[in-house]
Amino acid sequence: SDLVIAYRGNQRWVQAFEAVRLDKLAEPPKRLRRNGVYLITGGLGGIGLTLAEYFAQTVQAKLVLLGRSGLPPKQKWEEWLSTHDADNPISIRIKKVQNLEELGAEVLIIKADVANETQMQEALRQTEEQFGQINGVLHAAASLGEEMLRTIQEVDYTECELQFKPKVYGLYTLEKVLQGKELDYCLLISSVGAVLGGVAVAAYTAANIFVDAFAHKQNQFSNGVNWCSANWFHFENVNSLSKSLLSTVQGSQEQIEIQKQIEIEVEVFQQETVDVFERILSNSLVPQMIIWRSDITAEIDKWIKRKPQQVEKEARSQAQTYSAYTRPNLKTSYVAPESEVECRIAKRYQELLGTEKVGVHDNFFALGGNSLIGTQLISKLRQDFQIELPLRFLFEAPTVAELALAIEKILIGELEELTEEEAQELVLNTSRQ
Ligand SMILES: NC(=O)c1ccc[n+]([C@@H]2O[C@H](COP(=O)([O-])OP(=O)(O)OC[C@H]3O[C@@H](n4cnc5c(N)ncnc54)[C@H](OP(=O)(O)O)[C@@H]3O)[C@@H](O)[C@H]2O)c1
Repeated sequence: SDLVIAYRGNQRWVQAFEAVRLDKLAEPPKRLRRNGVYLITGGLGGIGLTLAEYFAQTVQAKLVLLGRSGLPPKQKWEEWLSTHDADNPISIRIKKVQNLEELGAEVLIIKADVANETQMQEALRQTEEQFGQINGVLHAAASLGEEMLRTIQEVDYTECELQFKPKVYGLYTLEKVLQGKELDYCLLISSVGAVLGGVAVAAYTAANIFVDAFAHKQNQFSNGVNWCSANWFHFENVNSLSKSLLSTVQGSQEQIEIQKQIEIEVEVFQQETVDVFERILSNSLVPQMIIWRSDITAEIDKWIKRKPQQVEKEARSQAQTYSAYTRPNLKTSYVAPESEVECRIAKRYQELLGTEKVGVHDNFFALGGNSLIGTQLISKLRQDFQIELPLRFLFEAPTVAELALAIEKILIGELEELTEEEAQELVLNTSRQ
């Protein structure tokens, strides 16, 4: 039952994780330099900007925020802000960068692909010309769009390339362009899914497993620079729940309430991100740290080292404690399923979520569903309807009614592709059943 085994000579090594409590320090970590130069790949993303703010606040750092999209030139910012809504994603980023400067940071925005060596060499040249020698790197680049939601069966070459670009090819490039630089540290933001298994995000998880292994290798062979892979905790429930719920309640009072709830949860995630980062930097130099509140070994036993039947039983009982068998108090009123497709889907929701009745407009995530239960649901529906049903459909169509529509569309598409004889055979088989 050991997951990772290595044979070295006549020794058999198994991978194990040790629980370490990292207490919060009264002072900022010593490894942070006042006015230090820090390169953040994925620096205009959620975690990148959160940590940039921390650098700005604590040490008035010189920050290089690197990503493929970048921002409009600085002289155009005011014009951009006056001609776009405050919730425009670029406006939000411009405001955040302006805030970093108000906090005392100097900021250089660089448009580059971390996997592209020429662009990265140029990015480093620009950084050193403007700020001097780099002191630390945070690698936070990732592709976190909805396309990442794929089980191992659904993953294809394109999806792998999308995930491997920032995390695999990006790391090889960083290794090359950072060679010979005297860095205080190089922190790689990985995901806890690499340890606990990201069932719903297979290629992303594989890429993060690579990040972890890469950090171990770098610590064995590199010239004294600490490369640490930090398996970051999840933000998944907020993401999946909010996106799918928001799509069903657009333009209503409910949308405002959900939006507020999301903002609160994002703020908590950001505070925790800073807290975790401080503790990591205050600690001794290790190649990998998994960020988890409780005993990770128990979680590995629960999520990874278990038989398929147990997975289902536990997911169901977990869902039952959520919903306690009764339909939770949802914003949507109960509408019973009508068509056969709706009834079959609703039955699967009931079984897996442990809810006694499910209405056609009830949202899977609002009923207590998560990606683990979702993966099982999609697998059951694939068997029920004998179709290829991508996992992401559950996030795009999280209610029974929406899923029924999506499934009917697939079934009709398949019917249309049948030859006359195949169609007749199908009718015969169906009438026999
Ligand atoms: N958010 C979470 O819940 C969570 C949980 C666990 C781990 N993590 C990890 O934390 C890190 C940061 O996540 P996040 O939430 O901040 O994600 P995010 O908001 O999507 O930011 C990621 C950034 O990476 C940039 N990027 C993607 N591919 C790139 C490339 N090839 N070269 C340069 N930049 C690239 C993107 O900008 P462009 O598109 O402009 O390039 C994007 O701004 C990731 O490594 C992720 O795996 C996140």
